[in-house]
Amino acid sequence: MTAFDFNTVHQRKGTHSIKWEFNRTMFGSDDLLPMWVADMDFACPPAVTAAVQQRAAHGIYGYTGISDAYLKSVVTWMQQRHQWTISPEWIVFINGVVPALNMLLQTFSHPGDFVVIQPPVYYPFFNAINNNGRHPLLNTLKEENGRYVMDLEDLGEKLKNPRTSVMILCSPHNPVGRVWSRSEISRVAELCLAHDVLLISDEIHHDLVFAPHRHQITAMLSDEIAHNTITCTAPSKTFNLAGLQASNIIITDEKKRRRFTQTLERNGVFGINPFGSAATIAAYESGAPWLDALLDYLTENLDYLENFVKEHLPEVRLFRPEGTYLAWMDFRALGLDQTALEALIEKDAGVALNQGYIFGDSGIGFQRMNVACPRSLLEEGLNRITRAVAAQRR
Ligand SMILES: Cc1ncc(COP(=O)(O)O)c(C=O)c1O
Repeated sequence: MTAFDFNTVHQRKGTHSIKWEFNRTMFGSDDLLPMWVADMDFACPPAVTAAVQQRAAHGIYGYTGISDAYLKSVVTWMQQRHQWTISPEWIVFINGVVPALNMLLQTFSHPGDFVVIQPPVYYPFFNAINNNGRHPLLNTLKEENGRYVMDLEDLGEKLKNPRTSVMILCSPHNPVGRVWSRSEISRVAELCLAHDVLLISDEIHHDLVFAPHRHQITAMLSDEIAHNTITCTAPSKTFNLAGLQASNIIITDEKKRRRFTQTLERNGVFGINPFGSAATIAAYESGAPWLDALLDYLTENLDYLENFVKEHLPEVRLFRPEGTYLAWMDFRALGLDQTALEALIEKDAGVALNQGYIFGDSGIGFQRMNVACPRSLLEEGLNRITRAVAAQRR
């Protein structure tokens, strides 16, 4: 019995939730059970709500700075949760990892450069690269014994290309759910060093890892690697605070840090939303027991999903995530083309999932399902999909 409630179905309509109220724009209908974008249908830790309420009660929401208390909460979290010792001055605050990725590319690469990514991968990586006039160089993940692995030989080739200046690593990986091993990350980081390619390590999901898997912070591997790595972190995925737009880019290397902060200055990016500040401090100071309970609940949701798929959706191959609350599912055995699969999930089943192809061509025929919801909603979503697949079989 946990002290935290993950079973209550909260009414999110009426909050302008992208997941619940923007489905007409995204999927052409409002009447879908949303299991797509990566936020959770759980209330955040009670200590965070209390901190935001207390801040709201003040009534003045003026320009807010990055306080010592804020920096200390980040430093202490990284130390206690990840045994990663960082200095407060390494932390560069920005209002999201996606804006950070865009501005990091503007800072550390030139138009026309190649940026290595590992698809199927979080689609804003493609957007950040393309929208800034850089080119994605694809080191496509391979499947081995039902698990995704990196093609390290191909990665070496891509990093060796003289036009490659940056690699964006997704660790843990969205959408395939891999928690990369120490040896896999070491190889990536060593290859980047050897070929003088800057490594952006997007570790936004790094608190959402299921035992026995353990997250390896890339920058902890060695001093030399730390100086060639920029780590993107945030309390947003961990504690369900995405709308508060607070993230922390951790840059050990002083010169790189200065170059990045100059880009922020050139774009007039400064300060923090007062609620983001209050929430981050409360989450990192007091959210650990809630996070442990969340991970237990998500593990049970994943057990439920795995058993359900085995029993009712035998055509579907599930890649159970080692980290993240996103399940990657292979629907190719149904033999449907992209349009027909999309129609099956959205029109026939009435569920909104992320279509696999948005993560790159290697995602065609796959779906990404967000399982961070009360079990009753997960059951509902899976029952809807099962009915639609059963009708398709007939
Ligand atoms: C790998 C990855 N990076 C970044 C983000 C989003 O970051 P932000 O909301 O801070 O822009 C997500 C959200 O799902 C993600 O999966």
